[in-house]
Amino acid sequence: METAPIHWPQMGCGTWAWGNQLLWGYNPQMDSELRAVFEYCLQRGITLFDTGDSYGTGRLQGRSERLLGEFAQGFPQQSCYLATKLAPYPWRWTPQSLVQAGEASAQRLGRPIDLVQLHWSTANYAPWQERPLLEGLAQLCQQRRATAVGLSNFGPRRLTLAHQYLKERGISVASLQIQYSLLCPEPLTHSDLRGLCRDLGVKIIAYSPLTLGLLTGKYQPEGPYPPGLRNLLFRRLLPSLKPLLAALGAVAQARGKTPAQVALNWCVQKDTLPIPGAKTLAQAQENSGALGWSLDAGELAELDRIVERLPRRMVQNIFQSR
Ligand SMILES: NC(=O)c1ccc[n+]([C@@H]2O[C@H](COP(=O)([O-])OP(=O)(O)OC[C@H]3O[C@@H](n4cnc5c(N)ncnc54)[C@H](OP(=O)(O)O)[C@@H]3O)[C@@H](O)[C@H]2O)c1
Repeated sequence: METAPIHWPQMGCGTWAWGNQLLWGYNPQMDSELRAVFEYCLQRGITLFDTGDSYGTGRLQGRSERLLGEFAQGFPQQSCYLATKLAPYPWRWTPQSLVQAGEASAQRLGRPIDLVQLHWSTANYAPWQERPLLEGLAQLCQQRRATAVGLSNFGPRRLTLAHQYLKERGISVASLQIQYSLLCPEPLTHSDLRGLCRDLGVKIIAYSPLTLGLLTGKYQPEGPYPPGLRNLLFRRLLPSLKPLLAALGAVAQARGKTPAQVALNWCVQKDTLPIPGAKTLAQAQENSGALGWSLDAGELAELDRIVERLPRRMVQNIFQSR
């Protein structure tokens, strides 16, 4: 069974914050602004929206998918891709349990899922759990509840196995989501994941491409720091980021861009599709300015050189497999 090809935009929009109070300070009064973000992205050709069935805290669980479903209503299905991630919770260990999760997501989204992704690899703690879940992804496509399959937080070894398993069921892996930004280049520098993805025809989607907002330049070593769970992490990282923030600022100024636009353009130049999270229309507008121009080889090399020398970079996702 051939899955439909996705016409990848150069950039997407992440929606983790849409419903998450704990980390991102969401409140429902933001909804009209989030709708404006959605509509603005579509106007700018940013047609991929990434969500997850675990997004939304407490009683707001599933809020991000619901909001996307509401916002997409009235737009032709082909005008945007709604990509969700199904979490491999410990109680999901049969194909049927994943199919049910996918059905619930499709219901919240109000339409079949354009890209259904396994949120993380279970290789580090329950490798046996992965195959039935891959089977569940395949069944969602066979039942036309989903159009294409993607993976997330898989390294080259597990990607190769998953690709082979799905191929035997006639399903191709369309995409791989990894944490990737100037401050987190490791997933593509510590292995030949990029070459493997190219060979397998897998699109690399870069999540947290602004390193949770660190690369926007609005958080500085001397403050301000964000509230909530990011506060501790930023306090640990920011003091050592001075050279990078300075270089980002210098490139941005020379180009008439902002640090966020430079950081996102860096992801695009590294052949990935960044999905920056946006909580406001102004952020979405700024982020869209990462497109339509290119950092040159010298600028890329200079930024890479500075990052290589940093004593601390972003922590890796503990679920990222080998
Ligand atoms: N597969 C996975 O395991 C996984 C993991 C994490 C994320 N993701 C996906 O990737 C998406 C993006 O990652 P992320 O949301 O973690 O981090 P991110 O894109 O690196 O940072 C997003 C945050 O930065 C701030 N921001 C964004 N644009 C800005 C701008 N132009 N100026 C100033 N601040 C700006 C906003 O927060 P403040 O305004 O509060 O600073 C925003 O919520 C998520 O929404 C999610 O869809 C996937």
